[in-house]
Amino acid sequence: MYNLVYKSIANTLTLAQVNEILAVSRDFNARHDITGCHIYHQGFFIQYLEGEAEVVLALFEKIKLDKRHRAVNLLSKGNIYSREFNTWSMAYLSNQLPNEAFRYIEQLVDSGTEPVGKSILPNPTSKRFWLAAKALLHKIGHENFN
Ligand SMILES: Cc1cc2nc3c(=O)[nH]c(=O)nc-3n(C[C@H](O)[C@H](O)[C@H](O)COP(=O)(O)O)c2cc1C
Repeated sequence: MYNLVYKSIANTLTLAQVNEILAVSRDFNARHDITGCHIYHQGFFIQYLEGEAEVVLALFEKIKLDKRHRAVNLLSKGNIYSREFNTWSMAYLSNQLPNEAFRYIEQLVDSGTEPVGKSILPNPTSKRFWLAAKALLHKIGHENFN
């Protein structure tokens, strides 16, 4: 099992376009045994992908070429013992979340804007970050379980 985290800058997108990315992701990922979490916040995407290494890396190559975002920056990759998002083909967190639920993840996302290794943990390369994201998803409810 393998995981990969990247950050990118979203090109100008409507909500419908963001939803389209999510719908395509969920369909493809479900069929290729990929799970993960996608964060869209203040014009940034942060995505955590997990699955078989070749499948995840091949998908990342495709994502990098996508014209709907730019400055795709790989934050971390490597082998993992088990999945974090085994029930989600692509969980989703965005600005649409209630403020109170979003504040914590927002703080973590902001700390991730510094170069890897120089920023204070937790940032999107850390397990703690994604555990917080997962905790938020549980708190928000079942419509995000996908
Ligand atoms: C930020 C971002 C994240 C994406 N994440 C995924 C993903 O997890 N799974 C996926 O299949 N496509 C994802 N896509 C879409 C792919 O880039 C691509 O459009 C899609 O796989 C369809 O490609 P195809 O038409 O060549 O089959 C993402 C796109 C963007 C911009």
